[in-house]
Amino acid sequence: MDKLIVNGGKPLSGTINISGSKNASLPILAATLLTSEPVIIRRVPDVSDTNYMLQILRALGAEVERSSGTVRIHAANIIPNAPYEIVRKMRASICVMGPLLARMGEANVSIPGGCVIGDRPVDLHLKGLGGLGAEIDTEGGNMLLKAPNGLVGKEIDLRGKHGPTVLGTDNLMMAAVLAEGTTIIESAACEPEVIDLAEFLISLGAKIEGAGTRRITIEGVKSLGGTDYTVIPDRIEAGTFMIAGAMCGSSEGVTLNRINREHIEIMSKELIAAGHDVEYSNNDTSVTVKPGSQPKGMKLTTAPYPGFPTDMQAQFTALCAVTPGISVVEDTIFPQRFMHCAEMARMGSDIKVDNGTAIINGVSSLSPAPVMASDLRASAALVLAALKAEGKTDILRLYHIDRGYEHIDEKLLLLGADVARVRE
Ligand code: EPZ
Repeated sequence: MDKLIVNGGKPLSGTINISGSKNASLPILAATLLTSEPVIIRRVPDVSDTNYMLQILRALGAEVERSSGTVRIHAANIIPNAPYEIVRKMRASICVMGPLLARMGEANVSIPGGCVIGDRPVDLHLKGLGGLGAEIDTEGGNMLLKAPNGLVGKEIDLRGKHGPTVLGTDNLMMAAVLAEGTTIIESAACEPEVIDLAEFLISLGAKIEGAGTRRITIEGVKSLGGTDYTVIPDRIEAGTFMIAGAMCGSSEGVTLNRINREHIEIMSKELIAAGHDVEYSNNDTSVTVKPGSQPKGMKLTTAPYPGFPTDMQAQFTALCAVTPGISVVEDTIFPQRFMHCAEMARMGSDIKVDNGTAIINGVSSLSPAPVMASDLRASAALVLAALKAEGKTDILRLYHIDRGYEHIDEKLLLLGADVARVRE
């Protein structure tokens, strides 16, 4: 297992390119199962989650070639059984259900386990696919879905107790593109990654309107063609490095290229409200973030897009940990998503977590200490804290970070950080 040794306390400056979006790539890669034509997808980040998805596609019978960020997939002859040993590693594997059911009339996928950020139910996925006529059984920890006579379009409301579901919306949309007639998804997720999936499907020949709104309309078609598609930039990677600029930036600041301003607007707004400096350039494809001279505490509550993203909660909590005053961060989507707080307490942070809310009393400095990564975004928060703390911090179980941040050590070195990846 790798660890990251961070010699923190150094000001960061310089410029990096933001990678393609992990959370846009995963459903788009799954959607390649919908067509028997070859497709090219560009700017797919080289992270373990996308590599797991490519392994699943190969196991399902697709031809898969990757050369750096470009992936070529040809799912001409496929089988409907997703391999348990890979699916269990990544919850997002469930987004092969919709495409397999639509293309093959059958899908056998293991029920994803929970994870440290909370239990990860799939009831809304099954409500959607069942709504199109799929027969659903569970056996031996697997979900067995069948639609021998094909799927039939319907109006389906996907709202759950924590609001819309991103991958649930994706699964239903992918199944609906080959269903008979019209499907309407009410209470759809509006995340940019859902829009990107819809754009990808449209480029294959699907008929979809309303992606990015709470109501998506899909007209089923008989079959789909090929495409050459480029995924959107990763807004959560961008947000994470924006926090690095606010926490540790020099007077020159940290500049991120290849961003989409609209997708990170909420992060910019909160950083500016907290007294930091955020400036866009190159017709909004670059952003520079510098620390404010008098940063203020924040009150943040996560919400579905375009609200404050739960995937940025841990990183903002790290910023609040070293911001003078009291901050309050509430996660309404994953109320248990606070594993980073216990680890940051080892570095001297003053955070009390209760019932999905963190009350943070900013401290003037953090001290280095060995810490344990636990999940993708909590690990990013620990890297940010380590970059801030003067001295040497070891971050163990780096594989959590490698799931969703492409070459994070190389990017940090480009910004002047003193980091080293060490194989344990
Ligand atoms: C996606 O997960 C993202 N993953 C997550 O990012 C992100 O945190 C999440 O959306 C919320 O924005 C990918 O896109 C690969 P949900 P997803 O279904 O779709 C509840 C990261 O760090 N729910 O939108 O699985 C659920 O428990 C990852 O990159 C049900 O109740 O999340 C949660 O409270 C972590 N029943 C809420 O809905 C269901 O059937 C939103 O979850 C499905 C979800």
